Amino acid sequence: MQLAMKRLDEGNIESTEQFYRAATDLIMEAHYLSKLDHPNIIKIRGVSSTPFSASFGEDGDGYFITMDVMQDTLRDRIPKWYDAKSSFDNKKKGLKNRLSGKRKKLNVESMYGRIETAAVGIAEAMKYMHEQDIVLRDLKPANVGFHAETGKVCLLDFGFARELSLCSDGEICGTPRYMAPEVLIGEGYSLKTDVYSFGIMLHEIASLEHSWRPRKRSISSHAELLTACDTLPKPSTEIIPCRNTALLIEDCISDDAESRPTFDVICMTLNEILSSAVKSKDHHLGDISALKSQIGAIGASDTCSCCTSPESSLSDDEFDGNEVFNNSAEW
Ligand SMILES: Nc1ncnc2c1ncn2[C@@H]1O[C@H](COP(=O)(O)OP(=O)(O)O)[C@@H](O)[C@H]1O
Ligand SMILES: [Mg+2]
Repeated sequence: MQLAMKRLDEGNIESTEQFYRAATDLIMEAHYLSKLDHPNIIKIRGVSSTPFSASFGEDGDGYFITMDVMQDTLRDRIPKWYDAKSSFDNKKKGLKNRLSGKRKKLNVESMYGRIETAAVGIAEAMKYMHEQDIVLRDLKPANVGFHAETGKVCLLDFGFARELSLCSDGEICGTPRYMAPEVLIGEGYSLKTDVYSFGIMLHEIASLEHSWRPRKRSISSHAELLTACDTLPKPSTEIIPCRNTALLIEDCISDDAESRPTFDVICMTLNEILSSAVKSKDHHLGDISALKSQIGAIGASDTCSCCTSPESSLSDDEFDGNEVFNNSAEW
């Protein structure tokens, strides 16, 4: 059985403070992964046997953990899904289409397929964590993997995971694009902060819009973070070809944390969306006109518009919100 190994990237650690933070996050990751047991959470298989304090001494090899291997991440898959012909109903990229402002229209069946492959498992794992009052604090496509052997979607980065009781106000960690507004202004964490991140990610899974790029601008201060975040556009659900999915995304990314749904409700809603999609499909095969009136009744596909290109209008040195940020206190 092949295993993946995670250890500190000492080449990228510039100060003692940064070392302590990264080491703490790795130890906490080992702690939570050992404690959690869920089919959509990566399995830890071992931790380095040298005591942590000796790991970084002169003869130490550094602390590490071993885990199951992932084939790729959701971050790798979204651009591939975008490039797949089946993801859109009108995949023409011609200059004429672009000049006329004709945009791509998402294929609703493929979108349901992506929700089933990725979003449901993530929501189930988050529900399981929240039942134990543990917040993940960095839910994003790069932290979601697909198991190399089973293909199952798995949460994989628990460096910022903490029991809610351990989180303090003013602590800001995570990735700006996926951070709830209350976290950005230092109001602290709640279970609903993960729901916000999930909403942004669900939007990416459904719409295939994304904006990450290889070059990143580094954000070091809170003031800089706030200014940079002002430039991040709020996702539009206009392009989502299913009204109930669009409504779920809107609820998850509400600025009012209280009104965001719990993962319990999110799991139920996703399952309802998928089972009514299956029913509609069966219906579709038998009676297309009945399906049209059904879609009209829920305001879905025919009211949907289309998808903008993920090659967004940001220039290379602009902030895209995908830089990890962490001001958390030492533990
Ligand atoms: N178990 C694994 N198998 C394969 N690739 C992995 C695995 N864990 C992480 N990766 C890859 O390494 C990247 C960084 O890992 P992650 O655990 O998120 O560390 P970090 O704390 O540096 O963000 C992931 O986005 C993924 O591409
Ligand atoms: Mg990560």
